[in-house]
Amino acid sequence: MDQGAGQGGGRFSPLMVTVIAVIILAGMLFGYDQGVISGALDGIQKTFHLGPRLLEVITSWVTLGALLGSLIGGELADRVGRKKAVLTAGALFTIGSLTQALAPHPLLLVGGRLVIGLGVGLAAVAAPLYGAEMAPSAWRGRFVSAYQLAITIGIFLAYEVDAALTASNGGWRLMLGVCAVAGVALFVAMLIAPESPRWLLKMGRREEAVARFCAVRPGIDFTPRFAAMEAALREESHKASWGEVFDRQWRRPLTVAVGLAIYQQITGINAIIYYADSIFAAAGFASPAAQTTATTWAIGAVNVAATLIAIAYIDRLGRRPLLLAGLIGMGGSLVAVGIAFLFIGGSASHGGSSVSGIVTLIGLIVFIISFAFSLGPVVWTVINEIFPGRVRGRAVAVATAVNWGAAFIVSRFFLTLVDAIGRPATFWLFAFFCVTGWIWIWRRVPETSGRSLEQIEQFWIEQGSLAPVPGRT
Ligand code: BGC
Repeated sequence: MDQGAGQGGGRFSPLMVTVIAVIILAGMLFGYDQGVISGALDGIQKTFHLGPRLLEVITSWVTLGALLGSLIGGELADRVGRKKAVLTAGALFTIGSLTQALAPHPLLLVGGRLVIGLGVGLAAVAAPLYGAEMAPSAWRGRFVSAYQLAITIGIFLAYEVDAALTASNGGWRLMLGVCAVAGVALFVAMLIAPESPRWLLKMGRREEAVARFCAVRPGIDFTPRFAAMEAALREESHKASWGEVFDRQWRRPLTVAVGLAIYQQITGINAIIYYADSIFAAAGFASPAAQTTATTWAIGAVNVAATLIAIAYIDRLGRRPLLLAGLIGMGGSLVAVGIAFLFIGGSASHGGSSVSGIVTLIGLIVFIISFAFSLGPVVWTVINEIFPGRVRGRAVAVATAVNWGAAFIVSRFFLTLVDAIGRPATFWLFAFFCVTGWIWIWRRVPETSGRSLEQIEQFWIEQGSLAPVPGRT
């Protein structure tokens, strides 16, 4: 039982504000770096005269870096502490942004994308972990949700910056470089914010842990909270090894987490987030200004608003209904967008009819809303709650890395796919994955809402896929 629950009402110290700043800045940097490339591609292409292959590499290598970053993120945060892990992410964000902004050659730009990606992956594991450990229990859900919301705000801001700079010559450099400022802000916020008392306790540095705890939560009795943390840390000392993560007994929850991580990506979200401007261009939005306006509001702002609504309802409605309803909206809208592109493709040379453009616009809005209340937040929630404590850290890292791997494949091959089979068939392929995803979730993903983590573990034991933990009744 978490002792912090009754202490959720304690005073919010100034240090707690720096903790919140760290979570929000890390989420926003994550989102900004995902979203910014959409508006920068055109300028990059004009500066370096690149073909679609290299443009795909420039777009997608952030996800490749993030895959590596998330694999090492958990391990690094355990070894050197949450503080140094987030500081490293802040430094990587800054170095990566400056490298991209100043790159005299496309290869250096690709290098900068990879460095930024490492920062994104590292922050994606370390910042929510830090937030979850620092939050008063009564606020934990909101702290972690704030991270997801910050991602969508970051994407929105990126689109806004893109829109403001799209007309200026070489504006892409500023679009990519501006996030160095946020990287420095993250670094400074983390420098002021305290190390996680839970991590200090785990390292045997009890006195420091008490001092940090009292500084962040003045006026709160640390004794019951520390007793609970020490008990939980004793449990975790039987942490499963990397090999054990793939053991037969964890296979069912691991399949659920990895399956959800893959379906979140192969149903097309990042193809749309990354290539929104070029999709709108193909749909008949002729000027770059019209494209970025459509991207900013139809994708960016709608994503933020729908995520806000999702946070309000996620616990009330349950995970399965949200996932299943969302996939219907996503699949239906993708079919409609595919049909619109069929007409655009068949019509006169540039852009096609405005009816097709409007269908594409409405289709993408419905798609984003459907994603934002379902696969967006729910997948991350389920991944973080479906595993028993012993295996949670490493299994979550595996599912996160698989998610980035799938994001990489989609963003790396989207343009290739469009070239090979055309836009309509590409959107229908994403829609087809919505259908298979729907059937798979219907059959395989259990409802986890309203259950404690122990009840979820018990569920797997009853399903026969997990051996009971020795000594536990
Ligand atoms: C996904 C990201 C995606 C974002 C869009 C997240 O849940 O993991 O890949 O870009 O949602 O809002």
